[in-house]
Amino acid sequence: MRVTLSVIKADVGSIGGHTRPSERMLHVIREEMKAACSKSKGLLIDGLITFTGDDIALIMSHMHGVGAPVVHRFAWECFLTATEVARKQGLYGAGQDLLVDAPSGNIRGAGPAVAEIEFERDPQSKDRPAEAFLVFAADKCSPGAYNYPLYAAFCDPMHNGGLLLNPKMHRGFTFTIIDMDAKDKDRIIRLDVPERIWDVATLLQNPDRFAVEAIHSRYKPDEQIVAVSATRLHNIAGRYTGKDDPVAIVRTQGIFPAPEEIVEPFLLGHFVAGDARGSHVMPIMPVPINTPVTGPFCLPIVSCLAFSMDAEGRFAEECVDMFGGPVWDQTRLKVQAKADEWRRQGFIGPTMASHTELAYTGIVETLEALEREFITRE
Ligand code: 13P
Ligand code: MG
Ligand code: MG
Repeated sequence: MRVTLSVIKADVGSIGGHTRPSERMLHVIREEMKAACSKSKGLLIDGLITFTGDDIALIMSHMHGVGAPVVHRFAWECFLTATEVARKQGLYGAGQDLLVDAPSGNIRGAGPAVAEIEFERDPQSKDRPAEAFLVFAADKCSPGAYNYPLYAAFCDPMHNGGLLLNPKMHRGFTFTIIDMDAKDKDRIIRLDVPERIWDVATLLQNPDRFAVEAIHSRYKPDEQIVAVSATRLHNIAGRYTGKDDPVAIVRTQGIFPAPEEIVEPFLLGHFVAGDARGSHVMPIMPVPINTPVTGPFCLPIVSCLAFSMDAEGRFAEECVDMFGGPVWDQTRLKVQAKADEWRRQGFIGPTMASHTELAYTGIVETLEALEREFITRE
């Protein structure tokens, strides 16, 4: 049967700043999710609600396909219900990511982050008798945050020995990279690796503008392995309203990389655009699921859950928290130390985000006022 995995995530309010949603907000969405998965409603096959920092993620399986209005409308309604709770509780940023009034149908581009993959779930299939997948959710950063780990895992055998060891992966992958500066219509490019590896690298070098949106197998071109929510809130709102905080689905095992190969690049604590006011460059910390943001700065964080899906498309009963275990403690301490050292430089130069990013913040007004005070010396 054809199953679609949809991960839809939004920040619709958080306690005492951009920390985490309240239990009551999560509770009302969980009730909605229970009803949507019930036999009487039959909208979803299965679903799970998590949070990463101040973002709530709806992880869902269903049979309505990618971009299905019924599923997107359901997610939007869930976020509206939680916004109402956040308002009543006086939480910060109630409804923050719901940027348009009443989107009709597909809500991609309306504020929430959306990553979806449709595939054949067939336990008799030669290549994928089991269906394993990862769901990443990142807070305080932009979609380019996945550029480094996806490049490392899908293009570089120094990070992923499986590219040499598995003949089906050795055939390579097709990257779909999106130009996030294009505002009215999607602008994408498809590049095959390993042949075009340096062209992929040339684009991914600029994560403010270009992000991996999808990766497909070349052994089985119909099989999509990766989906990333690669839209920029500042392009939708025209100003800074919070960071994009992207989600990603990565199918794993068999003809695709293994989970251990996909998470390996997160050992680095790579630098991403985000952090406080979305306006800095800081290292990203892998954290357990349902972690609030509480530290100094507003450190970018990323969570990762591993799932298995049964023949009916159910997956949510049990999962593994990939960044939950002690193996990541050393990385967490390293990332915090790296952040402390780096931010001693304060605001000067590269510790703050690039000027194209800052163009959506209040610094522009001060710069414009100062422009008028400049004089040209003869
Ligand atoms: P969020 O995008 O997670 O809401 O964070 C916004 C912010 O400005 C934090 O300092
Ligand atoms: Mg927020
Ligand atoms: Mg957030």
